[in-house]
Amino acid sequence: MAKGQKILLSGVKPTGRPHIGNYFGAMRQFVDLQDKFDSYVFIADYHALTTLQNAKELSENIVDVALDYLAIGLDPKKVTLFKQSDVSQVMELGWIFNCITTMPYLERAHAYKDAVAKGKREDINVGTFDYPMLMAADILIQDADAVPVGADQKQHVEFARDTAEKFNRIFAESGNDVSRTVFKMPEPFILEHVKVVPGIDGEKMSKSYGNIIPLFASDEEIKKLVMSIVTDSSSDVPKNVYAIHELFRDKKSLDALYEEKKGKYKDLKEALIADITAFIAPLRARREALAKDRAAVLKILKEGGEKARARAEAKMKIVREKVGVEIN
Ligand code: ADP
Ligand code: TRP
Repeated sequence: MAKGQKILLSGVKPTGRPHIGNYFGAMRQFVDLQDKFDSYVFIADYHALTTLQNAKELSENIVDVALDYLAIGLDPKKVTLFKQSDVSQVMELGWIFNCITTMPYLERAHAYKDAVAKGKREDINVGTFDYPMLMAADILIQDADAVPVGADQKQHVEFARDTAEKFNRIFAESGNDVSRTVFKMPEPFILEHVKVVPGIDGEKMSKSYGNIIPLFASDEEIKKLVMSIVTDSSSDVPKNVYAIHELFRDKKSLDALYEEKKGKYKDLKEALIADITAFIAPLRARREALAKDRAAVLKILKEGGEKARARAEAKMKIVREKVGVEIN
């Protein structure tokens, strides 16, 4: 790392196949920024446990996300890739954050509110409720400056900022460490023009809604999924088709195409299939090649985990002293 280089940190949950919304909303930034930042990109496996409670599936998904990261172009020589669970200090810090956070504050979280709106409150696990505190710990323990995420994660990064401020305020004067600010203020990096990518049903594309176009989809899947994108027959431009197409073409050529094929939904969908296929095919081939050497992938995660853990431990020494559990 070059001296003075800023720190980037982000992660994705291993809860299923990544989709083009994950890629254009968040993951692409990890690749684009890997030369500019000292980067830490991880697999949020303990976050996934809030919804995925099947050991075989979770462990397979973890390796899958590592492959996804490598296939999109993250270079393990530049980026520290690791599993969240290899940095147990994050869970320790999450507990400390729980103790300085109130229930009403966490009740404001969009993800929790959505879970309440969708299901029975009695069925929501404490991990789901507390999710933002673990995420704050992921971010703050590594001293992250930049957190590239999709627009739906903005509030979580704001929670991390609030938590940093609160900790700094409560524990400023304590311990031998004279610095008053233990935690840095992280900035969310959100590609405003991408917004939230819609799924084939027009709702937010999400692994949990069954409406995705997978980032490594086969040609057959791409065809089938694009053909089933819900169209609104009240206008010449099929809104959802256009919103997805925007990710793959510049606006000028896209608008020319939609003008030329006005009202011809089938032609427009076929053009989208061609564009998505051309984009995905090389990514898919690279992923298939990487998947042949599972041992190499596990080694990358292990080494990344050791580095991330050592940094986290150094930070926790200060934190433990600040809260008063470290006795010298
Ligand atoms: P999902 O909602 O599909 O389970 P994750 O919660 O794992 O996805 O999100 C991984 C990253 O991708 C996050 O930074 C998130 O903001 C981003 N992301 C997820 N869905 C979308 C979407 N439809 N449009 C843009 N970004 C998205
Ligand atoms: N909450 C993020 C998501 O659902 C995943 C995540 C966990 C994360 N910890 C993080 C993202 C820290 C950025 C930084 O996608």
